[in-house]
Amino acid sequence: MKIVACNSNRPLAEAVAAALNLPLTQASIRRFADMEVFVEIHENIRGEDVFVVQSTSYPANDNLMELLITLDALKRSSARRITAVVPYFGYARQDRKSGPRTPISAKLVANLITEAGADRVLTLDLHAGQIQGFFDIPVDNLFAAPLFARDILERYKGRDLMVVSPDVGGVVRARAIAARLHTDLAIIDKRRPRAGVSEVMNVIGDVDGRDCILVDDIVDSGGTLCNAADALIKNGAKSVSVYVTHGVFSGGAVARIGAASIEQMVVTDSIQATEAVRVSSNIRQLTIAPLLAEAVRRISEESSVSTLFN
Ligand code: R5P
Repeated sequence: MKIVACNSNRPLAEAVAAALNLPLTQASIRRFADMEVFVEIHENIRGEDVFVVQSTSYPANDNLMELLITLDALKRSSARRITAVVPYFGYARQDRKSGPRTPISAKLVANLITEAGADRVLTLDLHAGQIQGFFDIPVDNLFAAPLFARDILERYKGRDLMVVSPDVGGVVRARAIAARLHTDLAIIDKRRPRAGVSEVMNVIGDVDGRDCILVDDIVDSGGTLCNAADALIKNGAKSVSVYVTHGVFSGGAVARIGAASIEQMVVTDSIQATEAVRVSSNIRQLTIAPLLAEAVRRISEESSVSTLFN
């Protein structure tokens, strides 16, 4: 087995390789003067089971191109099987035609990854589970829910918890955590009048006096979660904490979250933390490296991955 790291999240790739007691495969993934991506694998990988770790996070297009060109290099080097390990799958929110004459970019990205040479994909908390069907190769979509539930049980023991989905689209994800914690579920009726702007219409459920745990897949501008936290506090919630799988944190998101009524936000390291995230007083990272490493080991040994969902 070989683990190849592209550049979007080397610390995570290193942690996955370390958990598997493997060195990262020697490779150069660099830029020409005009910023074209150039990839060179410095080890023989003929006949190997190769895992390429790359989140297609900001800058999404550069990171996607690195992944595609690395897959092409591996395919042309006669790897036996290539798995694209994409902890954060960018473009996932463009999973349907949102209006007339608009693309389904998530499908295009799935086609590109397959065409570039991936035999399978390993990812985490896809924005919409049905994106798996955009691929005609196997996709293992891991969940952060077990990791989050364990952390919540440790940190919030004895508190009167209520799990909250910040929008209708996130209900299945939030309900999975509520079921693990044996708590109630509330739902926020969110509207998006236009891209990048979210408004809370209603809180569905009685959050008065409860310690609320908001659960989401992505924090981008932070608008959804900050507005949700404000609405919960206005409705009498005692405290609001947040668990999010992918910390995109665009623009002034970290500052916005720092100023919001949020006790603590927990994100995974599917996307490498910026300095602003690292020094933030109310954002904490939980690593998914052991989960990814275990999935990689099981894929390589052709054993079941489904027990990792428990
Ligand atoms: C939307 O459906 C997603 O699950 C997230 O709630 C959304 O992407 C968060 O974006 P923002 O932080 O910009 O409100």
